[in-house]
Amino acid sequence: MVSSGLQHNHRITKSRTTRKLSNVNQPSRTRASASQGHSDSRLGVIVRLLMENATVLVSGTKLAAEISSNRSEVWRLIQQLRGLGVDVTGHPATGYQLRTMPDLLLPGVVKPLLRGTIFAEHIRHFYKIESTNAEAMQAAAEGDPEGSVFLAEEQTAGRGRGANTWHSQRSTGIYCSVILRPALPPAEILVLSLAVGLAVQAAMEEIDPRLSSALDLKWPNDVLICGKKVCGVLAEMNAEPTRVRYIVVGIGINVNQTAFPAELEPLATSLRLASGSEWSRVELTAALLKSLHREYAALIAQSGAHDSILERFAKNSSWVRGKEVRIEENGVPLAGITEGLDERGFLRVRTTGGIQTVLSGTVRERKQLASAVSIQPA
Ligand code: BTN
Repeated sequence: MVSSGLQHNHRITKSRTTRKLSNVNQPSRTRASASQGHSDSRLGVIVRLLMENATVLVSGTKLAAEISSNRSEVWRLIQQLRGLGVDVTGHPATGYQLRTMPDLLLPGVVKPLLRGTIFAEHIRHFYKIESTNAEAMQAAAEGDPEGSVFLAEEQTAGRGRGANTWHSQRSTGIYCSVILRPALPPAEILVLSLAVGLAVQAAMEEIDPRLSSALDLKWPNDVLICGKKVCGVLAEMNAEPTRVRYIVVGIGINVNQTAFPAELEPLATSLRLASGSEWSRVELTAALLKSLHREYAALIAQSGAHDSILERFAKNSSWVRGKEVRIEENGVPLAGITEGLDERGFLRVRTTGGIQTVLSGTVRERKQLASAVSIQPA
C-alpha cells in the first residue's frame, strides 16, 4: 500500500514546484477576518471590559468610548453578544454587567497564558466562521507568520479528514488552527502530525490526570476515550517536493458537549461526558498550545525528537501494535493486524499477503466495540 506521494492525510497536498507560492496575485475569496474582523474585535473589546469589571455595571458611555463609537452601537453589539450566548444584563440607561463569566476564547484572555510560545503574538478569534482551517490556509498563502492562531466559537463548515465535516456546535468545542512554517522536508510532516496527537493528549492529561488511563491515540492523530473520538486533527500543507512552505494544523476537540447528533453518538464523546464535569475551554486551549509549542520546538531543533515522537506515540496508542484493523486507503480496502510504525511514522499492517505500509486512510477496528464507559468523577 505504499504510494508515491506523502499522503498520510487526505487533506495534505503537495503543490507542484511550479505552483505559485500564494494567492497573493490572484483574486481571492473574501477572508472572514476581512469581512467580519472589525465587528469581531469590537465584540471582544466589550466582553473583555465587562470581564475586567465583573462586579460593577459598566456604562454604555464608557463602552462606547472604548470602541470609538456611540451608545446605540454599543446596544446593538450587546444584543449581538446575547444572540451569541453571552449572558449580559442591563440596558443603555443602567449600563451593562456580565451575569456569568463567558468561557470565550478571546485573544485578550488566551494571549497572556501563552507567553513564551510561538502562539502568543497573532491570535484571531471568530464568533462564527466557515472553517478556521480554510481561513488559516488563506492567511498563510497571504503571508501570515508562523505561530498565527485562529480560534472560533462556532464553525458552519468545519472540515474533517477525507470528505468528512467536523460538527462544530457553538462554544462547546475547541476549533483551533495554527500556521507553522517548519524548515522540514515534507516527509517529516507525518511525524509532526503524530506529535500533534501527543500534544493534545498531554494537554488533556495535564488538566485532568484521571483521564490518562482512558486516553488513546489512533494513527495518525485521533484522540479517543473508550474507543470514541474526542479530538480530530486536520493538517493541510503547501509544499514543494523538498520544502514545506507552510502547514496549517487544525484541531477540533469535543469539550463540553452533552450529546451529539444521532449519527455521531456511537462514534464521538466529549471531555465533559467522559469526566463528568464541565471543562474550561480557555484553560484547555492554553494547555494545548503550550504543549504543541514544546513538541514543535523539539522537532525542529533536536535531533532525537523524531525518534522520541515515534516511541511515545507507539507507547500511548493501543492501535499501533497488535490491533485487528481494516483500512480503506484511496478506495482500496486492507485488513490485518498492526505491526508498529516504520521509521517515517507510517503504519505497518500484517496482512495475509505480508507486511503492508499504510500511508493514509481511516483506520477502523475490525471488531468495533462501541464501548460507552465513562470516567467517574472523583
Ligand atoms: C478529523 O476528521 O478527524 C479532523 C477534524 C479537524 C477539525 C478541526 S476544527 C478546527 C479546524 N478547522 C476545520 O475546519 N477543521 C479543523
